[in-house]
Amino acid sequence: MYISKFQINNFRNFNDVSLDFEKGSNYFIGRNGHGKSNLLEAIYALSIGKSYRTSKGINLVNKDSGSYSSYLKGIAHYNNSASDLMLNIEVDKETKRVSKTYSFNSSSVSSIDFIGKLNVVLFEAKDLSIITGSPIARRRFLDIHISQQDFSYLKALQRYNKVLQSRNKVLKDIKIGKSSKLELEFWTEKIIEDGLIISKRRKEKLYKITDETLKIFPNFIFGDENLDINFVASYDDLDNLNNDSLKAIFAENIKREISLGSTLYGPHKDDFDININGHPSSEFSSRGQIRTIALALKLGEANALKNNINNSPIIALDDILSELDEVRRGTVMDYIDNYDQVILTAPDEKLLVKNPKFNGKIFFVKNGEIIDK
Ligand SMILES: Nc1ncnc2c1ncn2[C@@H]1O[C@H](COP(=O)(O)OP(=O)(O)OP(=O)(O)O)[C@@H](O)[C@H]1O
Ligand SMILES: [Mg+2]
Repeated sequence: MYISKFQINNFRNFNDVSLDFEKGSNYFIGRNGHGKSNLLEAIYALSIGKSYRTSKGINLVNKDSGSYSSYLKGIAHYNNSASDLMLNIEVDKETKRVSKTYSFNSSSVSSIDFIGKLNVVLFEAKDLSIITGSPIARRRFLDIHISQQDFSYLKALQRYNKVLQSRNKVLKDIKIGKSSKLELEFWTEKIIEDGLIISKRRKEKLYKITDETLKIFPNFIFGDENLDINFVASYDDLDNLNNDSLKAIFAENIKREISLGSTLYGPHKDDFDININGHPSSEFSSRGQIRTIALALKLGEANALKNNINNSPIIALDDILSELDEVRRGTVMDYIDNYDQVILTAPDEKLLVKNPKFNGKIFFVKNGEIIDK
């Protein structure tokens, strides 16, 4: 999949920008604060129907334009057909309420029918938290990946989180004599089914991502950096666990759960380990190494998604080259050249390590304007 024309109107620090993307590699060079991340935010918004950076829609409209609306338009190409996509953002002058409308092939559609028409995998600084952050970041990484392909997983996850809250409340209430073990049983039954489905699904998908990541990672390194990734569930022997054996685990731990007032087992405790040469990379890897691992993981995710949806997503990479040495920058640039389309930002053209076959298109981002080189 790739995007050809892209138009930005009154979005962030842009007024009117019209771009012709190259199928293949597109590099956006610009100094700090000139609009590079804003551009990727705009492209990604056409994929997910909203900003990945803010939930305050009003901040998306160019505040210096005097306007209360903004739009993003693109032409997406997939399987020899072209579709146009448009996202409109309107701010009510009085209430400052924001409404978004979507159109696909010039017909108005709901957000559900819009989201995912353009497949983009975005990598930005925050994604380093998959390596360095808390387990929440790693669960989120898996959940977004699985939800993109399976709406029923997202539903199960939402149900699980609600049931978990209710069950934790009952545990606390039992401790102070306000609730009974009978009520707890009801919530335990409910939590078990979705809990097992979610953890098993995460494990299965993590290993599919890992397979792809391990094919990519050696392209980025020299020497012997051995990467391994392992799913860590809160229960032992997840593969052989069923509803009955899990019920028995809950029964054994009921006293401890009541005294702590929280549910001890389940997907809310899932995590995965990322090791380099047998050591946790969050503690032993350098900044550049962490960036390389996170990038390999994210591209592994893109490749796993591609295997599933039979469509190569657009790869959007925000400032990934800055902390890498020249050799790694070269290997990364060589590797990403294989995707249908890559959109990459960098603060300095010197960071681009061009191989002899380099045929990427270079743009300059300056104060909200974008010029072709
Ligand atoms: N709603 C808005 N209206 C006008 N300008 C905005 C709006 N939102 C953000 N900006 C401006 O956009 C600029 C930030 O752009 P962006 O984050 O894309 O920079 P960048 O090129 O990615 O920089 P860096 O290299 O530091 O990451 C800031 O100067 C900010 O003030
Ligand atoms: Mg930026």
